[in-house]
Amino acid sequence: MTHDMYQDLERILYDRQTLEKRVAELGRAISADFSAHPPLMVCVLKGAVVFFSDLLKTITVPVEIDFMAASSYGGQTVSSGTLEITKDLSRSVKGEHLLLVEDIIDTGRTLLRLRDLLLSRGAAQVRIATLLDKPSRRVVDLKPDYCGFTIPDAFVVGYGLDYAEKYRNLPEVGILSPSAIRD
Ligand code: IMP
Ligand code: MG
Repeated sequence: MTHDMYQDLERILYDRQTLEKRVAELGRAISADFSAHPPLMVCVLKGAVVFFSDLLKTITVPVEIDFMAASSYGGQTVSSGTLEITKDLSRSVKGEHLLLVEDIIDTGRTLLRLRDLLLSRGAAQVRIATLLDKPSRRVVDLKPDYCGFTIPDAFVVGYGLDYAEKYRNLPEVGILSPSAIRD
């Protein structure tokens, strides 16, 4: 049996060309803003991995990279209220200019806690780049410094974003159709 991921999409929100163009714009802005202090770019796993690797290639200052994974959700949709670091950075960030790269900001809890943690470790600054932002869902005061697209409150997958760990490998961002969601 074949399983076509596109059958599970209500519609495509951002196709490859649109994503590529917008990511390049973000890369230009980041390169200009960080020209004095090239950043340590931190990929927030797993969702940001595709955006991160594409963004990286559009940046013209000599960055360093590292990876981190955190979870602030107990189950699928309910926030557990605590931040669990499941994979930490490989070295100290004291005095570093950090650029946290995330797939999507929803309630904002995960990134707010991550930013506070990295500042408490002595980072000189922590800026945030996100591919997608759902500001209507925000419960904490957090705004990204760089945002690809602001989207309405819909569940999206692809380009790194998952539903139950699937669809990350779709090269485009789409809205998941309700029929594909099994609660
Ligand atoms: P929050 O901002 O702390 O609520 O959590 C953001 C995280 O929730 C993201 O990094 C995603 O892993 C996940 N998330 C939120 N909205 C979506 C969505 O529409 N599709 C896929 N993952 C999502
Ligand atoms: Mg995520």
